[in-house]
Amino acid sequence: MDTNTLPAPATTALGLGTTGLVFGCDYNPEQWTPEVWAEDVALMREAGVNLVAINVFGWSHVEPRPGEYDFSGLDTVIELLHQAGIGVNLGTGTASPPPWLTTLHPEMLPMVADGTRRFPGGRQGFCPSSPVYRSHALALVRATAERYGQHPAVRLWHVSNELGCHNAYCFCDVSADAFRDWLRARYADVDSLNAAWGTAFWSQRYSAFDEVLPPRATLSFVNPAQTLDFDRFSSDQLLDHHRAEAEVIRQHSALPVTTNFMVAAHITALDYWSWADDMDVIANDHYLDHRLDRPEVELAFAADTTRGLARGGAWMLMEHSTGAVNWQPRNLAKAPGQMLRNTVGHIARGADAVCFFQWRASVQGTEKFHSALLPHAGRDSRTWDEVVALGSLVERLGELRGSRVVADVAVVFGWEVQWAADLEAHPTGDLRYLEQVHALYGALWDLGVGVDVVAPGAPLDGYAVVVVPELYLVRDEHAAVIDRFVAAGGTALVTFFSGIVDERDAVRTGGYPGAFRHLLGVHVDEFMPLPVGGTLALSDGSRGSLWSEPVALRGAEAVTTYAEGPLDGMPAVTRNTHGGGTAWYVSTVLEDDARRALLRRVLDGAGVRAGAAPAGDGVEVVRRRDDDHEWVFLLNHTDRTVHHDESGHELVGDHPVAGRTALAPGGTHIIRQDRKRS
Ligand code: GAL
Repeated sequence: MDTNTLPAPATTALGLGTTGLVFGCDYNPEQWTPEVWAEDVALMREAGVNLVAINVFGWSHVEPRPGEYDFSGLDTVIELLHQAGIGVNLGTGTASPPPWLTTLHPEMLPMVADGTRRFPGGRQGFCPSSPVYRSHALALVRATAERYGQHPAVRLWHVSNELGCHNAYCFCDVSADAFRDWLRARYADVDSLNAAWGTAFWSQRYSAFDEVLPPRATLSFVNPAQTLDFDRFSSDQLLDHHRAEAEVIRQHSALPVTTNFMVAAHITALDYWSWADDMDVIANDHYLDHRLDRPEVELAFAADTTRGLARGGAWMLMEHSTGAVNWQPRNLAKAPGQMLRNTVGHIARGADAVCFFQWRASVQGTEKFHSALLPHAGRDSRTWDEVVALGSLVERLGELRGSRVVADVAVVFGWEVQWAADLEAHPTGDLRYLEQVHALYGALWDLGVGVDVVAPGAPLDGYAVVVVPELYLVRDEHAAVIDRFVAAGGTALVTFFSGIVDERDAVRTGGYPGAFRHLLGVHVDEFMPLPVGGTLALSDGSRGSLWSEPVALRGAEAVTTYAEGPLDGMPAVTRNTHGGGTAWYVSTVLEDDARRALLRRVLDGAGVRAGAAPAGDGVEVVRRRDDDHEWVFLLNHTDRTVHHDESGHELVGDHPVAGRTALAPGGTHIIRQDRKRS
């Protein structure tokens, strides 16, 4: 699979029929009567909505019986939107197969790892490899694209919905066949598969592809390489489905085609680096995750990652929420100003389209307590007032089109790395890849440093610093990119359990951290993870946790050492001169303050300015720029007033600011500055 490593011909403007930014939403008119539709469209205009996603879950309405299409409802809604000058993001409607289809073909229902099938009654109840599902879905797409492919209201095609959200992995016999085909294409002969999977271990040697199964539930651990390949296969199968729908659409329409990604902490099944090139517009769905310690940091990471998928160009936030969702253990409302702040958080990081799920709050179904632009209370609500204010701000922010986010630092992140790093039977079950990525990213967030999130192997030219958290799995050529970057004068910071295995999940021998040993000038012969809650004193007065290892210096110098226990006096953090650059290594989990201090030192050494200092903790600082202007985004995530010294025109309040300016608790400032200064 491709890994999005080509240089970046970034989209500088999304288009989609607007001259400014897109302000949009999902709309499910099939949940309402036609009288409500007209009111909805009038209110959309009042809110400044200019793009509406429809027909995302429309299948059972559009095709009420096999092969019998009824587009009358969609015709009316599209016409109403068109008359109001609102563009349509047209769903293909294939995400949720109708009951007649699963009744006719129960064999298309997905099977989980223990061999039981899942029943219909929810959504996305299909096996991604099912030919029956595929042929019915494509027939629907064909009929829809034939009908609306040339309609002037349609601006964008929305394939399915969040492909793989619920059904990323299917373990049925049809999937097993498809997996074997995928493996044949990858390995050509069964001996190569045996070599790649290390089947000499536990007598797992295959004599034919026909013996291979998906990693169904076993009594012991499953072969990790088999699991890793099944992860790759499952991501590829869903991408293949996207391609099949897109191909049908393109026969009838020249409009851009996309699907909504789920770059989020709780979704890990899709390797979007390998999907990105298939998208005409990169679109993401993002919901604040209150199960995390710092949801706003994860929001920023997701946004930066999505911009990475768009190769630094403009991207679309296809869904987020005005307030609470309905699917977390506790669904927290957004405080006054928080919706605006979250929306601006995405815009700051490159979103030129900001859309919501959904327009009008449902009164039935599992999402009836999910927030919407128009809540159950209607216009007489705080949400509505904030939505209207946000709509007019987004209109003012049209001037951002074509500007780019400023970033001097790259963070290397990969879904494939995550699959491998989080496999079972590792030195400690306490190590979770994304937590390590978020920790380092969070320190950069705190320092107000612009970050690009890049795929392993992506070109690093132009960055001052590259941060490499737990890059457990790395291909030789991808490790070489980091090596060359440092040799040519760059600065890298690599953390423990990096460079350990190749793409087969086979360990690199001769000392850890395998692929990065030479770059880092260290040699480690053993992992020493810490017991639950265990910490170790470090020479700078801070403490390390979760992981430790005996780091032997092979060219590097010790920056911090362990100060107790079996590693007392041995290096914990090191620095190595490699060619013209510097490579830092961190062999334990640092405390937040120590991590920030270390990063500040690394950035200082590389000449990167930290941008957050004037505002203080909990204040997010991001910059977008074009030839003439720089826009400074200041987002106060705290409950106290903070101050900053940025002068210019403040776009939220729409007035000039100069000198020391107060930013209210939870407040947002977007300050336009002239770049043509002497
Ligand atoms: C998304 C999905 C929407 C809606 C939303 C609720 O995952 O695409 O259809 O379910 O979540 O938060």
